Amino acid sequence: MKGTRGRFGNIKRFWKTVCLFCLLALVCAGCGGSEKAEGLPSVRIGVSLYRGDDTFINNIRGELEKRAKAYEQETGVKVHLDIQDAKGSQNTQNNQVERFISLGCDVVCINMVDRTNVSIIIDKAMAAGVPVVFFNRQPVEEDMNRWDQLYYIGVDPKESAVLQGSIVADLYEENPEQVDRNGDGVVSYVLLEGESSHQDSVIRTEWSVQTLKDSGVPVEKLTGGIANWERSQASALMEQWLKEYPGRIELVISNNDDMALGAIDAIERAGVSGISLVGIDGTVPGNEAVEQGTLLGTVASDKEEYAGVMMDIAIARARGEELPEDLVLEEGKYYWVSQEIVMKKEK
Ligand code: GAL
Repeated sequence: MKGTRGRFGNIKRFWKTVCLFCLLALVCAGCGGSEKAEGLPSVRIGVSLYRGDDTFINNIRGELEKRAKAYEQETGVKVHLDIQDAKGSQNTQNNQVERFISLGCDVVCINMVDRTNVSIIIDKAMAAGVPVVFFNRQPVEEDMNRWDQLYYIGVDPKESAVLQGSIVADLYEENPEQVDRNGDGVVSYVLLEGESSHQDSVIRTEWSVQTLKDSGVPVEKLTGGIANWERSQASALMEQWLKEYPGRIELVISNNDDMALGAIDAIERAGVSGISLVGIDGTVPGNEAVEQGTLLGTVASDKEEYAGVMMDIAIARARGEELPEDLVLEEGKYYWVSQEIVMKKEK
């Protein structure tokens, strides 16, 4: 009996060791991580995207991955990036953040699903002492002021809109008949808006039109609608507007490139020509449309700078280091990425 118990004891001990080993391996695999950042050449960063299928966000994701690789090569510090898609669910995103923290991420980068609903994430991060870099979907000031380890990286929406408006205003000044196609002295436009709760939709909508008016372009709004940043939703709206206002739409002002591309899809399906369209983002397909001449122009944010600054802040915070000296943050927490107009290159 003794021998048998002894043998079982050995087997039990063996399985205990195996289980312990597996558990350790699981914990280490989380966030793709291994060692603790402190003193060791490794940082773990959890990133949660509001929707992985958003074109602009996808472009930023690509740049983040590139930047992480470049940083590893430059410094020898291993960067474990764990990028998750919240698929439009705040609940899923909250769970992702909880998981990042429990797996020992040193810092988290969050593209909020609902930017007015950040308190749960801030509470969790503060309790665990994990800094948060928000991006693209800006939390309200009151939330941002809750802790000195909260940052926001984004594109100034008023600046985007003023630049967008100036694309049309400059063309009108040089060549009014290229915008006012029917020559009635008024530019008739339709407006495609992003999500109603997004800071960018509200401010871009207001300032692109205001810039046209301030520049002396006579404008008349035919109609507008919310297409939630999405190409297919914008395409459906544009299809309907082309039927409602046959031959009358001269300009499409879109809060982003993807919706402008949706409008182009509808215009091409309807076989209409002579409508000018402007977007914002400078996404890969947006810039291609500008080159092809279907999109008059767009306002491109510098994606390399966007991801570069995000990574610089995230890595410095993860390693418990000071932020780079040349990085100037507004109020110590906001960074506004630079942008420029993209028009078709003269050949
Ligand atoms: C905007 C961008 C849109 C969309 C949105 C998502 O800044 O212009 O294309 O990506 O963010 O929050």
